[in-house]
This record gives sequence, C-alpha cells and structure tokens, in this order.
Amino acid sequence: MSTTPLLAVENVSKRFNGFVALEGISATFGGNRVTAVIGPNGAGKSTFFNVLSGAIRPSTGRILFEGRDLTAVPQHEFAHYGIARSYQITTIFPQLSVHENVRVSGQAFRSRYNIWCNRDLDRALIDKADAALLAVGLHGKRDRIAKFLSHGEQRALEIAIALVADPKLLLLDEPTAGMGPEETRDMVALIERLAAARTILLVEHKMKMILGLSDRVLVLHHGRLIADGTPAEIQSDSEVRRIYLGQSHGAA
Ligand SMILES: Nc1ncnc2c1ncn2[C@@H]1O[C@H](COP(=O)(O)OP(=O)(O)OP(=O)(O)O)[C@@H](O)[C@H]1O
Ligand SMILES: [Mg+2]
Repeated sequence: MSTTPLLAVENVSKRFNGFVALEGISATFGGNRVTAVIGPNGAGKSTFFNVLSGAIRPSTGRILFEGRDLTAVPQHEFAHYGIARSYQITTIFPQLSVHENVRVSGQAFRSRYNIWCNRDLDRALIDKADAALLAVGLHGKRDRIAKFLSHGEQRALEIAIALVADPKLLLLDEPTAGMGPEETRDMVALIERLAAARTILLVEHKMKMILGLSDRVLVLHHGRLIADGTPAEIQSDSEVRRIYLGQSHGAA
C-alpha cells in the first residue's frame, strides 16, 4: 500500500516584503474528500491557494504532489501534474461562448503537452470541453455568450474551465461568493458530485455550507494553521470559537 499522499505541504511560509502571509503550514491531502480552508479576511487563504497552484512560490518550505517536489515548477506546468483552480473573482472570457471558454483553456493546456495525436486534436478538445460542461450542468448552454450567464452559471463555467485538464486536485477559492441560497445549493451539489472522483480544497466563508459539505476543515489565522480537524472538532475548538465570535460571516 502506498503511503505517499496526493499533496503534501511541508512547513510552507510566505512573506511579502517582510509581511508574514503564511507561517509554517504543514498538512497532507488526498482521497475523494472535500477539505475547507476557513479563516477571517486576510488570514492567508488565497495566498495558500496561490502557493498550491504555483501562482506564487513559498518563501520557505515545499509542495510535494504525488511525492514530486513542485516548489520550483512554473505555474503553467501545474495543470499538467494534475492541479487546477478557480479564482475568488470570476475569471472568464465574457465575449466568448460557454464552450469557447472551456476550449481556450484546453487549448492552452494542449499546446504545451501534445498528448493527443494531431488529426484528432480538435475533436478531442471539443469532446473534452463538452464533457467538462456536462459535469457542471452547463452543456445545455454551451453556445451562449458567457456574459449572459447568471452569476452562478459563470462560477460553474469557471469550474468547467478548471476541469478540462482533468485535475486530481481541484482548488476552489470562494466558489459561492456573491451567490444567494439557491445558487449556493446548486454549487454545493456540484462540489459533492466532483468530489466523487478527486480531491477538493475550497475556501469558503459560509459556515453552514462548510460544516455540511466538508470532511475536514483547516483554520488559518494571521497566516498560521491554528486548527485542522473534522467539522465537529472545529466547531468545538475554543480558539476557533474565539476568532469567529462576533464575526458577521461566521454565522452565514
Ligand atoms: N501579492 C501580495 N503582496 C503583498 N501582500 C499580499 C499579497 N497577497 C496577499 N497579501 C497580503 O497577505 C494577507 C493574506 O491575504 P489573502 O488574500 O491570502 O487573504 P484571504 O484569507 O484570502 O482573505 P479574504 O477572505 O479577504 O479573501 C493579506 O494581508 C494581504 O494583504
Ligand atoms: Mg481570499
């Protein structure tokens, strides 16, 4: 039995001109599980995802993916290894169709790693984009111009864009940001479906959603990992309770 975790984070710190955004983070991740990363604004959650997706390099520490050290690997290679992400702010091409949005992402991935034989390239790319849209429930809107989708649909499209590289690890930064209860329910159902086949880490502020959806919760505070446990353990953790006491998003 292999004991190598999908992702191992070893003593990762990140400083911006002396400001400590992350400090000594260590954790391992793997399996078809949903792990939530929570913490107050500015805690370092997005910075953590930026490090895990290769967008920024840690000041110290290492990122191991299936045992390989990715710490110095360029960001564009992360998708090749099997790590993809969505962003806190919606990041799509508004003027392109839904299907084109996913295809452009697949194209960027493909041009560096020519994994399909030439004559089948376009067909394979189209099929991959269609499969990603099916997975997020947007296939019926594949020819719509992206800017005309609802906010919730645009967030789902971003996930389809991330899925086209068929990631083993999917990082979702506030996938329900700006959503009402109905759109949030749809997104939770989507994340549950996606978690059946991959490891998911998500940053979220909506506490009820986190507790219902996650197998595990990490709590960041001032760049430090102050708790790592099941939702029940996190709810009864006195330091976590103290941090969240009186915070408006804590009860959402
Ligand atoms: N590129 C950067 N340069 C300088 N400081 C940065 C940079 N990125 C993040 N920071 C700082 O690091 C801290 C953590 O930011 P981060 O975006 O990771 O927080 P967060 O937990 O995602 O917060 P939020 O819940 O508001 O999204 C903040 O104080 C932020 O200003
Ligand atoms: Mg953030």
